[in-house]
Amino acid sequence: MEVVIRPDADDVGRTAAGIVQQSLADGVTTLGLATGSSVLAVYRDLIRRHRHEGLSFSGVDAFLLDEYIGLPTSSPQAFAQVIRRELTAHIDLDSERLHVPSGTALDPAAEARRFEQCLTEAGPVGLQLLGIGVNGHIGFNEPGSSLASRTRLKTLTEGTRRDNARFFGGIEDVPRHVITQGLATIGEADHLVLIATGPHKARAVSAAVEGPVTAACPASILQLHAHVTVVVDELAASQLRQRAYYRCIARHKPVGQRY
Ligand code: F6R
Repeated sequence: MEVVIRPDADDVGRTAAGIVQQSLADGVTTLGLATGSSVLAVYRDLIRRHRHEGLSFSGVDAFLLDEYIGLPTSSPQAFAQVIRRELTAHIDLDSERLHVPSGTALDPAAEARRFEQCLTEAGPVGLQLLGIGVNGHIGFNEPGSSLASRTRLKTLTEGTRRDNARFFGGIEDVPRHVITQGLATIGEADHLVLIATGPHKARAVSAAVEGPVTAACPASILQLHAHVTVVVDELAASQLRQRAYYRCIARHKPVGQRY
């Protein structure tokens, strides 16, 4: 695992966008996208690179991590809408190549299986962007999620519903259920890039990076993956015991060093 510590959220966004650009230049054609606040600075910088530096997403397939169950497709809070508004409407990604689980399917369990199958056929994802919940979730794999889980329905914790109430009128409007890629599904991507900013993420980042591998902190499963980059700002890094070492690696990294 490589831990990259940047001064602030904008710098985190630029760094992660640079990693995405490099992956596309290296031939990656399948991207995994997340929603939420943490990835917004990444998307802003990807749009800037598309507009001003010729970064192209043509021929790329993009898969979203998750979707609320029960929100109308046209709802501004539906992740299919969020990702269009924040990223894909502003770049040259073919809208037919944006894949989102349907939150309005009559049989959500069957829809989860369909999405997993679609990922298997198009995959592996070359680069997957991830945020992290304050409780250590990735995607919407809440604490206690099976480390072997695949795309399926999940029930959100009240804490996650409260955290996401800022995007809705209030907590009562936040759906209780989601379809989310599972932890094993996410782990099949070739490269995982986890973004975290702000002091409220410090405890989850420290548990994920330096704590035990446990379903109590779903993001800790990243420790078992061969290629993970954690890009954090100073505040989110503040509880990492080894942060001096991570900085030292960044300063002296020999060419070709893997993680
Ligand atoms: C959203 C997702 C979630 C978020 C996480 C952090 O697609 O998969 O795991 O990444 O809840 O959200 P923010 O960045 O809003 O704190």
